[in-house]
Amino acid sequence: MAIPKAQYVSDVWKDGLFASKVVFCTGGSGSICSAQVRALVHLGADACIVGRNPKKAEEKAQSIATARPGARVLGIGNVDVRHVDSLHSAVATCVKELRRIDFVIAGAAGNFLAPIRSLSANAFKAVIDIDLLGSYNTVKATLPHLIASSKEGAGGGRFVFVSANMFQTGLVLQTHVGAAKSAVNALSNNMAIELGPLGITSNVIAPGPIGDTEGMDRLTPASDANTASATKIPLGRMGSVRDIADATVYLFSDAANYVNGDVLIVDGGAWRTGGGA
Ligand code: HXC
Repeated sequence: MAIPKAQYVSDVWKDGLFASKVVFCTGGSGSICSAQVRALVHLGADACIVGRNPKKAEEKAQSIATARPGARVLGIGNVDVRHVDSLHSAVATCVKELRRIDFVIAGAAGNFLAPIRSLSANAFKAVIDIDLLGSYNTVKATLPHLIASSKEGAGGGRFVFVSANMFQTGLVLQTHVGAAKSAVNALSNNMAIELGPLGITSNVIAPGPIGDTEGMDRLTPASDANTASATKIPLGRMGSVRDIADATVYLFSDAANYVNGDVLIVDGGAWRTGGGA
């Protein structure tokens, strides 16, 4: 069933904004990234989402494709961002089917609540590998195509990483995730400097607590800290996937042509009061 547009993207964006653009997204089966991709597809893009679970990736791709008649959305499973070879293979399929890649969303993430006193080195490494190494691998696999897109000078060649606002304040039971997400911000910031001269931009969206997502469902019940943080959001509500989708549309649109090396915190101001996600 098609999801009503108002649930995933604002009316302020014009249809056809991303006509002929192709977005490649890791973590695209998840709640936040699928909403980001759905918004871009609604506004004219074709897309390729990748994930570990093939059934989930294919079903999500089909669902996203309902956002626009004629949209082409590939769902590729058995892709683990920790292994660059599986990303190279997915990128090759994407380019073979959709001809190009203009935008990349690096959103695959791993998370669980754990106190650092009992967090094993392997558990820490698992999250670093998914979030940070996975983001690096995504860049390595897609960069040649973004260089080609940016050379056409039509607004392509853009990376958006999905981080979290917690790096600003810290959050209990999340040392591993805070470290990984901070490093993702640093990766993007440095890429912005190095790739800017090629016409490629690199930015981060750092969400706060986002309601109705698998991530929050997974993390909130056991966490007093997360419950407390929800009361610390100046705008008085949890974020929605639409809030993140709108920020994504902005960063890929011509309105953000001069935005590079930014970490766009989308959390209702929560980080300023210690409300992390
Ligand atoms: C402590 C844990 C643990 C837990 C796993 N480990 N879960 N330690 N508490 N709840 C430890 C294991 O014991 C093991 O260490 C190590 O982590 C690796 O575990 P595996 O299960 O072998 O890893 P893997 O199968 O690769 O799974 C990766 C995962 C898993 C991150 C651990 O949770 C996962 O794949 N999750 C799905 C994706 C996900 O989490 N999405 C949520 C994104 S939401 P030992 O020492 O025993 O070998 C999000 C929002 C962020 O990111 C915003 C902030 C809130």
